[in-house]
Amino acid sequence: MKMRFLRLCAVGLALLLATTACSSGVSGKAETGKTLVLSLNQSETHPSYIALTEFGERLKAAMDGRWDVKVYPNETLGAQQEVIQLVSDGSVDMAVASGTQLENLNPHFGVLNLPTTFKSIDHQMSVIKDKSIVGDLFTSLEASKHLTVLGGLTQGDRNLYTATGPIKKPADLHGMKIRVQESDVHIKMVNAMGGSATPMSYGEVYTALQSGVLDGAENNEISYVTQHHNEVAKYVARTRHLVGLDYMLINSETYNGMTPEDRKIFDAEWSKTMTEHTTLWKKDTARAIQQAEDSGTKFNDVDKAAFDKALAPVVNGSLKSPADRELYDAIQEANQ
Ligand code: GCU
Repeated sequence: MKMRFLRLCAVGLALLLATTACSSGVSGKAETGKTLVLSLNQSETHPSYIALTEFGERLKAAMDGRWDVKVYPNETLGAQQEVIQLVSDGSVDMAVASGTQLENLNPHFGVLNLPTTFKSIDHQMSVIKDKSIVGDLFTSLEASKHLTVLGGLTQGDRNLYTATGPIKKPADLHGMKIRVQESDVHIKMVNAMGGSATPMSYGEVYTALQSGVLDGAENNEISYVTQHHNEVAKYVARTRHLVGLDYMLINSETYNGMTPEDRKIFDAEWSKTMTEHTTLWKKDTARAIQQAEDSGTKFNDVDKAAFDKALAPVVNGSLKSPADRELYDAIQEANQ
């Protein structure tokens, strides 16, 4: 309750600051400048915070201060599910949201949340920059939700980690409560891997691991360390079950309201941000692994073939419509 109140205050303050910085902003007219409020659920040491803060600085310089981005980290404005609603109604301008959240708004996004969809970070980034593959998907929420997808930031390889001991094969997860994001695809995924999937929002995972409500979770090495999960779950099984993806959302009216010249600069700076984030991500993953090992984390390899076999029906069963299959196949072709 207290947390919710603090978040509402933070949203209110962010809006007040944004309105003060606004030099125009009549709905339906092209805007000449504004501080865009951007919500992120990561800490200040996470590569997404660093890349997005630099995006704001570059944008401000390139636009002579007309447009600017202020990043609010640590779920200050709310968990992703709540913030998407705030971007939709225009009270927050931009947000980073995991693909799992967008799957709940348009199930077609689920195709990009599956194990095996992306073979590597580079494959993933080339696909999400290719309008011929994702163009329709990225504008699919504009009419109903006022949300435009600008592109994305990789979440890298996701691995499984537990508090109680090493996991080497699906049977080792039997009866273990493993946190997943709030997504049907991911619930099915962890159940198929042998665990008992427990959906929960990101910010609640540390306490749930610490108190024993959860036996484990799954995430990339950077989140594992920046969220301090390494303090409470010391065994990382290198399952590499999928390459995850975060999307950058912007309120469609705000985006479409920019003058054509400003939008061109905005798009160019955003595109540069995606590239810089990928470089930063790769470097930071190595650093996070080292930091985890130094803090006592034990990494182990798994019976990858057994996990892949367990996951195959989830992939096939999730490609429900011909359109899902077509999107999945186009993504695979882009890796040839
Ligand atoms: C990653 C991802 C977040 C997501 C989180 C999660 O850290 O970048 O967007 O919220 O995983 O597991 O919830």
